[in-house]
Amino acid sequence: ANGLLADRRGRPLHDLRISVTDRCNFRCSYCMPKEVFDKHHEFLPHGELLSFEEITRTARLFVAQGVRKLRLTGGEPLLRKNLEVLVGMLAALRTADGEPLDITLTTNASLLARKAAALQAAGLRRVTVSLDALDDAVFKRMNDVDFPVAEVLRGIDAALAAGLAPLKVNMVVKRGTNDHQVLPMARHFREHYDGQVALRFIEYMDVGATNGWRMDEVLPSQELRALIERELPLVPLAASAPGETAQRFGYRDGRGEIGFISSVTQAFCGDCNRARLSTEGRLYLCLFASHGHDLRALLRGGASDAEIEAAIGAVWSGRDDRYSELRGSGQAAPAASGRRVEMSYIGG
Ligand code: GTP
Ligand code: 5AD
Ligand code: SF4
Ligand code: SF4
Repeated sequence: ANGLLADRRGRPLHDLRISVTDRCNFRCSYCMPKEVFDKHHEFLPHGELLSFEEITRTARLFVAQGVRKLRLTGGEPLLRKNLEVLVGMLAALRTADGEPLDITLTTNASLLARKAAALQAAGLRRVTVSLDALDDAVFKRMNDVDFPVAEVLRGIDAALAAGLAPLKVNMVVKRGTNDHQVLPMARHFREHYDGQVALRFIEYMDVGATNGWRMDEVLPSQELRALIERELPLVPLAASAPGETAQRFGYRDGRGEIGFISSVTQAFCGDCNRARLSTEGRLYLCLFASHGHDLRALLRGGASDAEIEAAIGAVWSGRDDRYSELRGSGQAAPAASGRRVEMSYIGG
């Protein structure tokens, strides 16, 4: 155990994002477009997925290398059966100085009303819910499976009632698709939740290789902020964690907070401390990576804890990834890189 692990740019290893399934019951056009993720798409067979025991062991070894926060992602993580059992196993882990981990989950909330209480009881601390519009027609067009807004709001209410509070809501903004929902969303979450919901606006990213990303569909956070401030003045808030994705703002009247995740126009690679574990146990050093390091081969090949820890340390020490920064400065993605991995597989 050493807290000094740093990559080639001096960035520590702090968060581990764990994808527990590559499946999702939504088909958001920016993530799993229906035309690509159709009935012919082959998801991973069950035996390829890391088991709960394998995930827990891997997480424990990452924790020994400095990780303090775990985020469960997918696909849609609540589609993984008995996820609360995994949460319970992860909640039993401790850092070197005996602290519990910050355990959280990013979900589309379609199953949250059913699961919130069990997840909280198992040790989940927080959740982040994705919701792109309040208008049913707009939201249904974006999730592309006719899923109603009311069900997501019911999931949010259930999470808050179960004590998963405060919580965050993620809204991916696409120009021409849901930009007119920005103000209704801002108003809704500040007015009805007593400061318990922080809404974050996310710039539509060129992640994966299938979403048909175009720069003209990105709404830069600066523009968004100006739009919001015309009605609701804001004050900047200090970062709540090092390497945080969102720039936080409070409403000047003190009623609630929002955040901007500006990966396209203001890259935050400089202090990116996130590692990603894919559904089948590959370690990715960047959301935009095309290559992962196969930890499952070690897990299933009889490697000792010390050997796996050393492998994690070696991989992180060699890390130089900073995709968004390079894209932002006009440099294209590294030429040698292959097809970028899909978000539903690497977990956002
Ligand atoms: P908090 O720690 O609770 O603030 O969550 P988070 O923002 O780290 O994670 P979340 O799953 O809510 O992701 C929010 C958005 O940020 C999603 O669109 C993610 O894809 C994106 N995101 C998260 N981490 C990174 C990152 O390291 N790089 C980039 N470019 N985007 C990221
Ligand atoms: N750009 C920005 N955010 C995205 N997400 C999924 N695909 C994209 C994209 N192309 C968001 C989801 C979820 C989070 C994990 O990532 O809406 O909130
Ligand atoms: Fe599913 Fe989330 Fe991707 Fe939408 S963004 S398809 S809810 S994993
Ligand atoms: Fe981290 Fe890669 Fe995102 Fe930059 S683009 S913040 S390096 S995950």
